[in-house]
Amino acid sequence: MDYSFIKKVLFTEEEIASRVRSLGEQITAYYRENYGEQEINIVMILKGGFIFLADLIRHIHHPLTVDFMAISSYENGLKDTGIARITMDLSTSIRDRNVLIVEDIIDTGLTLGYIIKILREKGPNSIEICTLLDRAKNRIADLPIKFRGFEIESFFVVGYGLDFRQKWRNLPFICTLKDEVFET
Ligand code: PRP
Repeated sequence: MDYSFIKKVLFTEEEIASRVRSLGEQITAYYRENYGEQEINIVMILKGGFIFLADLIRHIHHPLTVDFMAISSYENGLKDTGIARITMDLSTSIRDRNVLIVEDIIDTGLTLGYIIKILREKGPNSIEICTLLDRAKNRIADLPIKFRGFEIESFFVVGYGLDFRQKWRNLPFICTLKDEVFET
């Protein structure tokens, strides 16, 4: 594979693994302390978080279930309106359950702000947020992020599930892209 598109590796495979392990430990401790043996109902928003989720749940030593949602992306107007279309809804009820949303990245916060509004209407007992990457400087909608992997500057990043035009999700590290990639 040609890696000449990479500008800089921001987080190596080892750095990610160590941070994900520690997030799993934090989540385990938080739910044990606050909710005893009640299950964690993990909700992942497809698709960027799938690698993070797979690694993270193996470091959560607490009963849990996993469900997925998908929504339409920015091209369909989310960035302007804060409103998106649910293209895949949860397959099970979250009423009275403890929901932990797992995301790969939170940027403006508009996606999650919208999703949280929808999830609240389904009557969960609690909703918390876990994101691997937090691009906090771009935030528009304020969100209470309980578990955060890394804070990053306003760079566009790929790898470990994150893409550019659906490419490079398979990189085991997270990196920035050379400027010429965006020009093609
Ligand atoms: C990313 C990410 C979040 C959203 C965050 O998804 O997974 O869902 O953007 O951006 P925001 O905070 O500005 O709303 P993306 O649209 O890249 O789709 P993908 O997960 O399918 O790659």
